[in-house]
Amino acid sequence: MKLIEARDYEEMSQLAAGLIIGEINEFPTMTLGLATGATPVGTYRALIQDYQHNRTSYSRVTTFNLDEYVGLHPTHPNSYHYYMKEKLFDHIDIPSHRIHIPDGMADVLEQECQRYEGSIEESGGIDLQLLGIGSNGHIGFNEPGTPFDKATHVVELTPSTREANRRYFNGLSEVPTHAITMGIGTIMKSKKIILLASGLKKARIVHQLLFGEVDNNVPASILKEHSHVWVIADQEALRYAKS
Ligand code: PGA
Repeated sequence: MKLIEARDYEEMSQLAAGLIIGEINEFPTMTLGLATGATPVGTYRALIQDYQHNRTSYSRVTTFNLDEYVGLHPTHPNSYHYYMKEKLFDHIDIPSHRIHIPDGMADVLEQECQRYEGSIEESGGIDLQLLGIGSNGHIGFNEPGTPFDKATHVVELTPSTREANRRYFNGLSEVPTHAITMGIGTIMKSKKIILLASGLKKARIVHQLLFGEVDNNVPASILKEHSHVWVIADQEALRYAKS
């Protein structure tokens, strides 16, 4: 893992966007893995600004999102379909047929997982995957204890993840209980990975990621065994790592 230290959230976002834009300029037909949550919002904002000023084109880029809630329609404001449209896709020139997000409304969720994993393989695999990190070490919705070799699958969200995400919903009871997520096996097949971490609430897990062992209870720790990972963290997220 290569650590890139950023001053703050804004610089972290600019650095991540710069890496993504560099890859798109070099490989205009690349496959890009995308994440949701609060952390990548600034990165997407920076990509949109770059698109407006420099016209970096996404017309031949293919995207795969990490995850989606089970039971939320794509038009639901809390679905990750909706998030991605609002935060990125509506503002760049990516054709809709090149966008892939798991279908959390599928009748047979297991089949949807297999279909999704198959589409990633058919596209030649993910060239660059963007990740956030949960304060419990999750990546995508791969919660602590998930086997490292899993493909795309259905997960039951842990109480701490549902609690962390309740701020977006009208109460905990509305937060979905399940999600479809790329597995850690899927994520590890990505050729390159960027993991973003910002803020004090990530300081403990970032310390563990940088200095701890590879441990099934810290899903992100497997990234230590990947040959091409950038961890971009701001000063608050690095608070314990540097003391
Ligand atoms: P956050 O979530 O970006 O909203 O902190 C990160 C994650 O849970 O992966």
